[in-house]
Amino acid sequence: MTAALQDLARAKINLYLHVTGRRADGYHTLDSLAVFAAAADTLMLAPSPGDADGQVRFSISGQFGAGLVADADDNLVVRAARALQAAAPGRRFAPVSIDLRKMLPVASGIGGGSADAACALRLLARAWDLDVDLAPIAASLGADVPVCLSQAPARMGGIGEILTPAPVLPPCAMLLVNCGAAVPTPAVFRARAASGAPFRAEAALPDGWTDLVSMVADLEQTMNDLEPAAIALCPAIANVLEAIAAEPGCAFARMSGSGATCFGLFADATQAGQAAQRLNDAHGWWTSAGAIGHSSASHGAA
Ligand code: C5P
Repeated sequence: MTAALQDLARAKINLYLHVTGRRADGYHTLDSLAVFAAAADTLMLAPSPGDADGQVRFSISGQFGAGLVADADDNLVVRAARALQAAAPGRRFAPVSIDLRKMLPVASGIGGGSADAACALRLLARAWDLDVDLAPIAASLGADVPVCLSQAPARMGGIGEILTPAPVLPPCAMLLVNCGAAVPTPAVFRARAASGAPFRAEAALPDGWTDLVSMVADLEQTMNDLEPAAIALCPAIANVLEAIAAEPGCAFARMSGSGATCFGLFADATQAGQAAQRLNDAHGWWTSAGAIGHSSASHGAA
């Protein structure tokens, strides 16, 4: 390879998340509808001539990079590179460097680390010209990594790795808000199990949505089953949800994944953008607004 490559690792938002059971290995089975926000990390890959074949230099920059630097060798991006090399024995891997520009809050329920790993798999498969099936490699790296490979709206089953195309989404804007608390996913699943909350059935969804109103009416029949446990661990999530719901034009507010990031759906992109600015100004919360899958305006935490 000679050229530098760059790709976006978009935030994954769970429009709903039903916990349907628990496997013998402790992982929970889910029914969830994942979509991808405009907000994203960026991965930049460049040739690293002079290094040995197979070497992957890794650096982290960006607004939320500092907290990750100490454990960089353990980062999912590095593990993704190693897993890809292991899946293509006998191949030559030209030395590369990858910089992760970390713009998404970490441990925040939007699959940032998983999106970074999926993005690394896509970039490295291109750079090394590998024709391998990335899905099983993605699944070996984490439950959320497979859905992040295509970054297309999908219904997640199993522990997250069984994917079916999602109903067609009406055009709408999404506001993301994170109050700054890191909420570890295992702790939230554990807290939910300890609370004795029941398992839930899969959601009944239509084949397609024509408008935001019908989409919201259907989403209101669903929930994020991790919300009560996450709020018990991080009460500020309840304040964030209340603040999003009170914004003019917000049709729907909910927590994503295991939190603490919450989202709001808006028919009007301007209103979503104004809400992002207002909530950042008023509370110092990290906010981002944009059409699902399109360009965004983010406001850093104060
Ligand atoms: O697969 P990943 O590393 O992203 O999962 C992190 C943790 O979240 C797991 O170790 C497990 O405790 C919990 N989890 C779960 N069921 C899932 C996904 C994650 O219990 N479907």
